[in-house]
Amino acid sequence: MPRSNTETTAKPLLRALRGEALTRPPFWLMRQAGRYLPEYQAIRAEAKDFLALCYTPSLAAEISLQPVRRFHMDAAILFADILLVPDALGQNVAFIEGEGPVLEPINSEAAVAHLDPERLEEHLAPVLETVRQLRRQLDGTTALIGFAGAPWTVATYMVDGRGGTGAAAARKWACAAPESFATLIDLLIDATARYLSAQVASGAEAVQLFDTWAGLLPEQEFARWCTDATAQIVHRLRADHPDVAVIAYLRGVSTCLPAYAARTGVDAISIDSTVPLEWTVEALQPKVTVQGNLDPVAVVVGGEVMRQQATRILDVLGRGPFVFNLGHGVLPETPPDHVAELADLVRSWGP
Ligand code: CP3
Repeated sequence: MPRSNTETTAKPLLRALRGEALTRPPFWLMRQAGRYLPEYQAIRAEAKDFLALCYTPSLAAEISLQPVRRFHMDAAILFADILLVPDALGQNVAFIEGEGPVLEPINSEAAVAHLDPERLEEHLAPVLETVRQLRRQLDGTTALIGFAGAPWTVATYMVDGRGGTGAAAARKWACAAPESFATLIDLLIDATARYLSAQVASGAEAVQLFDTWAGLLPEQEFARWCTDATAQIVHRLRADHPDVAVIAYLRGVSTCLPAYAARTGVDAISIDSTVPLEWTVEALQPKVTVQGNLDPVAVVVGGEVMRQQATRILDVLGRGPFVFNLGHGVLPETPPDHVAELADLVRSWGP
């Protein structure tokens, strides 16, 4: 039984997100656009830097469509980054070749007060234009997914200033002075809700929140910084757009997911590759649509390893409301031929 009584749309991804079990599960891949594709590398080589790509609608739209043209996924995901929100708030963000993102760290309430939420919509206007261009270019069966980082995960980069730190600085601030850290999380809840609402108004049909670093938090802090924060965003987004489908991706919190799904009201949970499949069928899939969770390393390796792991996921989860995806993003060293074989495998699977 679909959970929603709104009119069923023709797009398979949106049907699955509404709780329908389809004979052939729809699929897309996190980080499906990007460095493993030579056609992305070609555009990237011509651009000033990664941020310039994100803020140039014609290029960003083209990059979003590249994997869909090659592999015929059921969705295109907006080409952008979760760190565009701190950039729009006025924090200094740079993507350094070979190093990843580098931000001027924010570590006090005074620094939070210097951020300027007023500039958000204006600064992110090019991204919303990308969404409009994409929606015009997609056919009647391919869905358009917008996205943002969840507040905790974005805060880890804003406070630590880079990845690879285990979010040490953000963890310490959140643990030592939660009311002070809450000023940053509250600002991000507001900014993220407005940004996602604007993406939907511009044509995104579903949105995904990325909470990649949720698994770093102990139970009670997870409840506050991840569950409660996302619940507030979903509530605000639904006030503007009651029918929009919301997917949440979290890493490293498997047994917390059923309560998280119930409390946040998301339509789908995207599970990482460590989440046990049989447990998922019992504990999670009866409550929400499940998305996931092939190990990205298996797609780098390819061949029988990839086929065996993908088939097991489809056999166990494929009958419920399900969207095939990876457990994390496509790795840059992934051979595009392996992705093509994976796409064929998912399309030809039958229960
Ligand atoms: O999925 C897609 O195809 C859409 C675009 C997208 C990007 N980043 C493009 C990107 C999405 C959805 C993201 C999400 C994102 N960004 C997350 C959450 C998901 C995850 O992977 O955990 C996070 C934590 C970020 C922050 C970020 N952006 C990091 C840590 C890095 C450097 C590491 C890396 O993978 O390069 C980026 C850069 C980035 N974002 C690239 C792309 C295509 C590579 C930029 C380049 O061309 O050099």
